[in-house]
Amino acid sequence: MKLRLKITLLTITVAVSVSFFILLSIRGVVINAFRGELEAKALSIASNLSDRVANDILRKDYFHTNKAFKEVLGKEKELEYIFVLDNDGNIFAHTFSNGHPPDLLSWNPLAEKSRHIQLLETEKGNIRDVGVAVFKGTGSELHIGIREDSLKKTLMEMRNITVPLIILVIMVGIVASFVFSLFITGPLNKFVEFTKVLGRGEFGRRVEVSSEDEIGYLARNFNTLSMQLKTAKEKMEEAYTYTHLMQAEKLSSIGQISAGLAHELKNPLTTLKMLFQAFKEQPDMTVEDAKVISKEIEKMDGIITNFMGFVKQKGFRFSETDLNELIDRVLSLATYDIENADIIVKKDILENLPHVQADRALLEHVFLNLIINAVDSMHDGGEIRVSGKSDDKFVEVMIWDKGSGIDSDLHAKIFDPFFTTKTEGTGLGLSIAYNIVNSHGGKLFFNSKKGKGTVFTVRLPKKGDK
Ligand SMILES: Nc1ncnc2c1ncn2[C@@H]1O[C@H](COP(=O)(O)OP(=O)(O)O)[C@@H](O)[C@H]1O
Ligand SMILES: [Mg+2]
Repeated sequence: MKLRLKITLLTITVAVSVSFFILLSIRGVVINAFRGELEAKALSIASNLSDRVANDILRKDYFHTNKAFKEVLGKEKELEYIFVLDNDGNIFAHTFSNGHPPDLLSWNPLAEKSRHIQLLETEKGNIRDVGVAVFKGTGSELHIGIREDSLKKTLMEMRNITVPLIILVIMVGIVASFVFSLFITGPLNKFVEFTKVLGRGEFGRRVEVSSEDEIGYLARNFNTLSMQLKTAKEKMEEAYTYTHLMQAEKLSSIGQISAGLAHELKNPLTTLKMLFQAFKEQPDMTVEDAKVISKEIEKMDGIITNFMGFVKQKGFRFSETDLNELIDRVLSLATYDIENADIIVKKDILENLPHVQADRALLEHVFLNLIINAVDSMHDGGEIRVSGKSDDKFVEVMIWDKGSGIDSDLHAKIFDPFFTTKTEGTGLGLSIAYNIVNSHGGKLFFNSKKGKGTVFTVRLPKKGDK
């Protein structure tokens, strides 16, 4: 059932039942008032008549009694009958045309009371028998029977008014409920249309209902929802294109690296090919030859391992990271290389550094690479210093060495994939480290002086600042 029909039916039901109950109670009040009036009137008729005929009864003047009865009967149209008993309680006179009913004395016997009203239900309708004592203490009573003719008439008249009234109420109810339902269902239909609009994904549209009531409130909520959905959708689209860009960037760097990989593998492979070619002609392998072969193979292995590490990395697993702890772990991983090269590592102001949001495994990779590079640069041993500092936005970790330093001609190249100055280097360490730090919203940079040493700085955004 449609909402509008429901509202209409409800309004009509309410209107009809309200008017019905109002009319019913008015009717009750009218009937009660009328009966009271009727009884008072009947009592007064009966008392007057009894006063008038009292002496006639004493004198047994049947003629005058009858005359008085006829007069009253003629005047009061609602009177059905009159009868009177003499002092002995026998019927003295009456107005029944065909003789009195045999059980007349049992209708409303006064029995010591001075007056009494009894309702009689007869085939002529309700008749009230009003009896009054003519002489107190004797059997003489006067009774009149009064009908409810005028009540019937009044009720009939009331009906003639109420039936059209009820019809009018129903009609007004129909019109009112129609108008009323237009007020409610109008905006509701707008809402229904609006949800369809939202369903089609057209966020940010507004439903135009400007009333100050609950419906207006609902409309404002709907509009807020619509705007929120729009913002959420835009953010999602933004995030989507962003991850797409990230992905594209990664693919392009992988492409770049793959090209370099093929190029880099070509050198050791060519060396190996040449060696094996030589063996074919002169098959005796010297220790030197074996060393060259194993070195070239190690080189290829290093290149491939590093490359795999970079490619395998699928997405980041960020967690709150304490850089002090992380560097301790890296240093313990590098202990063998460090001690072998006669180097000591000093840690400085790392304990209270703010935490960062980072993928630990990747960040370990970064610092391990930087430490190993520093170790590689110091051929005669010495000291590596790891220090930290922070401002309100960033945390920085610096790795200082007093090694060979980097030639200023090479500054622009050292982050390039496969750029290396080492015979066993892969040239991938710094390029991978650079990408990782970048992906954390940070920066990797260095300062170096040929022959004096180098400092590499890892700058990361503080946790909550990214
Ligand atoms: N701490 C450092 N001191 C001097 N030179 C460095 C340092 N770190 C990196 N380099 C230079 O940058 C080059 C690239 O480093 P990297 O990308 O880690 O590759 P690899 O260590 O395999 O050579 C090194 O070969 C070296 O010449
Ligand atoms: Mg390296």
